[in-house]
Amino acid sequence: MTAIRRAWLATPIVALLALAGTPLRARPSPKQDSPIANPTPADLERGKQTFETTCSTCHGLDGGGAMGPNIQGIPFRLGADAVTNVIKNGMSGGMPPFSAQLDSTQIQQIVGYLLTLSHKDTGTVTGDAAKGKGVYDSSGCAGCHIVSGLGSGIGPELTKVGHLRGPGYLRNAVLYPGTDLPQARVFLESGGLLDYLFIHAVTNDGHAFDGTRVVEDSFRIVIKDARGEFHSFRKADLRELKKEPGKSTMPSMKGKLSDAQVNDLVAYLAGLKGDQ
Ligand code: HEC
Ligand code: HEC
Repeated sequence: MTAIRRAWLATPIVALLALAGTPLRARPSPKQDSPIANPTPADLERGKQTFETTCSTCHGLDGGGAMGPNIQGIPFRLGADAVTNVIKNGMSGGMPPFSAQLDSTQIQQIVGYLLTLSHKDTGTVTGDAAKGKGVYDSSGCAGCHIVSGLGSGIGPELTKVGHLRGPGYLRNAVLYPGTDLPQARVFLESGGLLDYLFIHAVTNDGHAFDGTRVVEDSFRIVIKDARGEFHSFRKADLRELKKEPGKSTMPSMKGKLSDAQVNDLVAYLAGLKGDQ
């Protein structure tokens, strides 16, 4: 069956897959530069004001996401240059360009402000990070995530997740996967697409498949399952095609790990800041 499905991925879809698939496996390592060498409190305050008047309608008042994705701390993940670029030039999926509206100082102030949002999380770390690494290693996390070059990349890279996300968010991500998924299609710096729309498909001959959408047009859809395998379908061959926004391919650890283990795991993740 896989062989037949793979044959489907001929020519144009293969090109799209290459775009959509590779960045998850080999995401560019985030750049180290910081947006403003030393943003003053006044810079950050102005960044906050500009953000609230210009960006919050789509990204939420706290940057936590609305119609656009969660961009709290995003310069840590994409690099300050890439974020500056996105703000100036926009992105094809609904992010408008702001080069005509904002000057480069204002943009830098916003980037500085976005960095401060990474730590706005009320959760606290109570566990033991060293034990948490053991929990990470024995729970199959590396089957879907990369930390410092180790693992594989169906899920987002976690090398700097402690910079990007606070402990409360991390706990939530592990216990209730999918609750904070971007509500819009997120395009990666490298040209790929990070789209977490969960799909449940059943073929006319009764085989069921679950995964996230990779590409879709009027006639076909390609999904990627939790093992990272691609499945391509002609829509005419499907008896059922259900889109389940907010659902995740990541298994919940609720009930699989003890409270203490979850605390340790959160401590480990919160400590992943990209420094060796
Ligand atoms: C009209 C809605 C809208 C406004 C206003 C808007 N954005 Fe966006 N933004 C989006 C959408 C939608 C995306 C997802 C990418 C896409 O589809 O283009 C996005 C993506 C981004 C990304 C990349 C996220 C990622 O994970 O790659 C950044 C950074 C960003 N926006 C920052 C900003 C900033 C800063 C402002 C204010 C100056 C702003 N946006 C204003 C809708 C908006
Ligand atoms: C079958 C694949 C898979 C496994 C196994 C898996 N994850 Fe995930 N994980 C994902 C995907 C896909 C996402 C993207 C968001 C979503 O779907 O919920 C994600 C999201 C996350 C996030 C949120 C990242 C962010 O920046 O928003 C964290 C943290 C995380 N996973 C940690 C873990 C840990 C810890 C384990 C092991 C206990 C684990 N994951 C196991 C697939 C997986």
